[in-house]
Amino acid sequence: MSDGTPFYITTPIYYVNDAPHIGHAYTTLACDVLARFKRLDGHDVRFLTGTDEHGQKVEKAAAVAGEAPQPFTDRMSNNFRRLADALHISNDDFIRTTEYRHKLASQGIWDALVAAGDIYPGTYAGWYSVRDEAFFTESEVTKQENGTRIAPTGAICEWVEEPSYFFRLSEWQDRLLAFYEANPDFIAPQSRHNEILSFVKGGLQDLSVSRTTFNWGIPVPGDHAHVMYVWLDALTNYITAIGYPETNSDSFTRYWPADLHMVGKDIVRFHAVYWPAFLMAAGMAPPKRVFAHGWWTNEGEKISKSLGNVIDPYDLIERYGLDQIRYFLLREVPFGNDGDFSHRSMVQRMNGELANDYGNLVQRTLSMIDRNCGGTLPEPGGLSTEDEGLLGAVGGLLETLRRAMDRQAFHEALEDIWRVVRGANAYIAREEPWVLRKTDPARMGTVLFVAAETIRGLALATLPFMPDASHRILDQLAVATDARNYAMFGKAGTLNPGKALPGPQGVFPRYSGKDV
Ligand code: MSP
Repeated sequence: MSDGTPFYITTPIYYVNDAPHIGHAYTTLACDVLARFKRLDGHDVRFLTGTDEHGQKVEKAAAVAGEAPQPFTDRMSNNFRRLADALHISNDDFIRTTEYRHKLASQGIWDALVAAGDIYPGTYAGWYSVRDEAFFTESEVTKQENGTRIAPTGAICEWVEEPSYFFRLSEWQDRLLAFYEANPDFIAPQSRHNEILSFVKGGLQDLSVSRTTFNWGIPVPGDHAHVMYVWLDALTNYITAIGYPETNSDSFTRYWPADLHMVGKDIVRFHAVYWPAFLMAAGMAPPKRVFAHGWWTNEGEKISKSLGNVIDPYDLIERYGLDQIRYFLLREVPFGNDGDFSHRSMVQRMNGELANDYGNLVQRTLSMIDRNCGGTLPEPGGLSTEDEGLLGAVGGLLETLRRAMDRQAFHEALEDIWRVVRGANAYIAREEPWVLRKTDPARMGTVLFVAAETIRGLALATLPFMPDASHRILDQLAVATDARNYAMFGKAGTLNPGKALPGPQGVFPRYSGKDV
């Protein structure tokens, strides 16, 4: 149990050019699970999400919608807030890059970079992908037959030639490499670490950090013909939210450097190369870790608007249930790998692991207590080796979970939990409390108590993943609200024998909808 150690975790801030989809939901959910886990484990958690509202891409989307950028972003940003609510995200703050506090921070970091001598004026001439909001060199783009240049991401590039300020990224190569070497866990998973290392070893070019051909952005201090490059503006959100440029403030000193920036694999370079270089140049420490997760496909196909197969998180919640979605997304693939969303595997996990394994364990234990123990928690007698084995397994779960969660191995954490779920089901099958009811009621009471105590531990373990269902299970065990945290993990005496329980209610329904 950690006593109030700070834990600062962030999602990427989402572009407001379009409606939120499964990809956004995924990153935010993963952060939410970790934030909840750390809170339950006694950390002082700060969990940030928000929207990225400047730049050409958003400006163009506003123009297409026939709206001025500000009202457009107000409206679109709200969709992301609504999604966070629908997913029961426990964020502590929601940042928008069009807020005043963010203008102050962005201009503050700009001034710090200028003061450090890391910014100089010049002219940018090269390729730019509006979809990625990224610059590409001639050698990075592919020329198609019709002359169009395509970025490695598949996006169309346009030729840009304009006055621009540059950041001396080329001078940060050695310091970045030294930083990666001193902090081998900075970029995860390993594949991304290797990718970034070889990119930086290949040499870095100075980075264009302002634009002059449009104006939807934060004005460069002292030169309002320029707006800041949207990625410099966007990355700064992580420090805006904790009070930058006030680096002496309580919140800044408490939460910086961030413990974890969670990102998708497409935006690692910005977070693991540019961002630490900006921070070090401005006199700040880089974040402790950047974890890049994989991408989802839909029934084997790349998700794209043009294919019309974008997965709407609201549809998923309506069809399968929120906790079921939260579980599936973090269980289906090793976190960090790409994953495929399919109705078949969703239903398989929902019916198999949730309804049959976990749901059934809870349901049959609570029903037996309800029917055979007068609806009150039975008094345990002496414990057998079997009883102690199961209680030991559930009690030891916390340490295992901590290790998995600190590596963002959500799938492993869930596998560990399910090992105990299956162990508990096997225990009940072996002990046969329904037989003991006639032959040895006292022993039946012990078995049901041990099962209930195991379920209490399991429900604490699943709280970060499936908060609503887990709370409902704890309600049915009459666990006090202030006992729903990890200081109470494996702690005897939390369940009170003799206490009346509210009566069993199914928590994990089977999928009974149409097959899609
Ligand atoms: N605005 C930038 C981030 C700035 S952070 C300082 C951005 N926004 S985004 O809205 O385009 O993407 C946000 C996240 O969604 C990224 O981490 C991206 O990887 C993730 N996903 C987008 N599509 C996805 C899938 N199909 N699957 C999983 N995640 C995906 O980038």
